[in-house]
Order: sequence, then structure tokens, then C-alpha cells
Amino acid sequence: MKNIHEVVEKNVGLLAIFILIAISFGAMVEITPLMFQQQTMEKVDGLEPYTALEMEGRDIYIREGCVGCHSQMIRPFRAETERYGHYSVAGESVWEHPFLWGSKRTGPDLARVGGRYSDEWHRVHLLNPRDVVPESNMPGFPWLAENTLDGELIEKKLRVFKDFGVPYTEEEILGAKDAVKGKTEMEALIAYLQSLGTALK
Ligand code: HEC
Repeated sequence: MKNIHEVVEKNVGLLAIFILIAISFGAMVEITPLMFQQQTMEKVDGLEPYTALEMEGRDIYIREGCVGCHSQMIRPFRAETERYGHYSVAGESVWEHPFLWGSKRTGPDLARVGGRYSDEWHRVHLLNPRDVVPESNMPGFPWLAENTLDGELIEKKLRVFKDFGVPYTEEEILGAKDAVKGKTEMEALIAYLQSLGTALK
């Protein structure tokens, strides 16, 4: 009698499809329950939507590739919590689209960097990190101090986030352009950095 297994084992394409299905089951078992757990969907009490300026800063953070060297995810291990503070909780990330947890730490984790340094420290550090941390191998980002924001897209960005469930008011959206226009990219990025991790008291 012909073994039906042979059909799968001798057909690489079919085999690949079945392997994918088998692996997806594993992922589904882990991921699907998270979509229905309150704890992973509900915001922490102190969470505020990003201001227009912080939102612009967040986009600059993405554009400049900061996420490639910095994670924003403190794991619940003693070595991490002693260095960075309280471990990250899901409720801090409910309005992150996309989240910037990252997966590589060439530099330190930034999940709770908000308030750790002054704005002036960040400015000097972003212009040339070695001016404040002599052994640093982080690149400088001097153009951020020269580029100014025109705010052309900020209204749209906030509207998209509102569609995702972030509670922006109409007033905040309409005032967004004026709030960012003429500010430097440096100011926006620093505003964003100073907001990180401050929701959890
Ligand atoms: C090539 C990797 C690399 C990139 C890209 C990078 N960094 Fe860094 N960053 C580092 C390293 C390494 C350090 C640690 C030394 C230092 O403080 O300069 C650091 C430190 C920092 C610190 C201080 C953190 C602390 O707790 O002391 C901040 C804030 C920071 N980076 C922000 C940024 C931002 C914002 C960007 C994007 C504009 C960025 N970094 C891009 C590697 C990088």
C-alpha cells in the first residue's frame, strides 16, 4: 500500500507549507491569549498620549536608527532593574504603534531614560557623545540642531494614532502644527526622550 506520508516527504513545497502551519500553531498558542488578557491591553494609570512635539521626536528616533542600538524594554531581572529601574510592563506600551522595544543593546536601555539627565545634557550628548561620555562609541547627530520642523504631517500622524485608539482631542490635533512648527528636530527628540518611562510611578 502506498504510504501517504511519501507524498509530503517527496514534495519540498508541500513539506514547507506543512512546517509553516505546524510552527504557526506554536506562535498562536503563545500570542492569541495575550490579545484577550486585560493586563496586556489596559494602560497604566499615569500614561499620557505623546504631545505633538514628542510624537515628532519619536519619528526622528525611528528615522535616525536609535532603535538599532537602544532597546526600550527592561526585563524583570535584578541586573536590569538595579541599573534601569522598574521592569517594563505591557500597559506602558498600549499606545505604541509600532513599539520600539528593540532587540539589540549596543548602548544602554532607554525605556526609563526620561528625567535621568537634563535637556542640556542630552543636547551636548546628541551633538557629540564624547563630550560627556569620553569612551562612548555612539555617533553624533549634529544636524538635529539645524533641521527645523515644518509640522506639515503632524495633524495626520495624530489622527492615525487616534484611529488606533489613542485618546487625542480635536483641540490637540488642530493645535499640533503650531505646537511643533519652527522647533528644531533636537528639541523634538529630547522632548521624546524625556517622556520615556515616566508613566509608571
Ligand atoms: C551605533 C550605536 C548607537 C546609535 C545608533 C545610537 N546610540 Fe545612543 N548610545 C550608544 C552607546 C554605546 C551609548 C553609551 C555611551 C554614551 O552614553 O554615549 C549610548 C548612550 C545613549 C544615551 C545615554 C543613556 C544612559 O542611560 O546613559 C542616550 C540618551 C542615547 N544614547 C540616545 C540615543 C539616541 C536618541 C539615538 C538616535 C538619535 C542614539 N542614541 C543612537 C550607542 C548608540
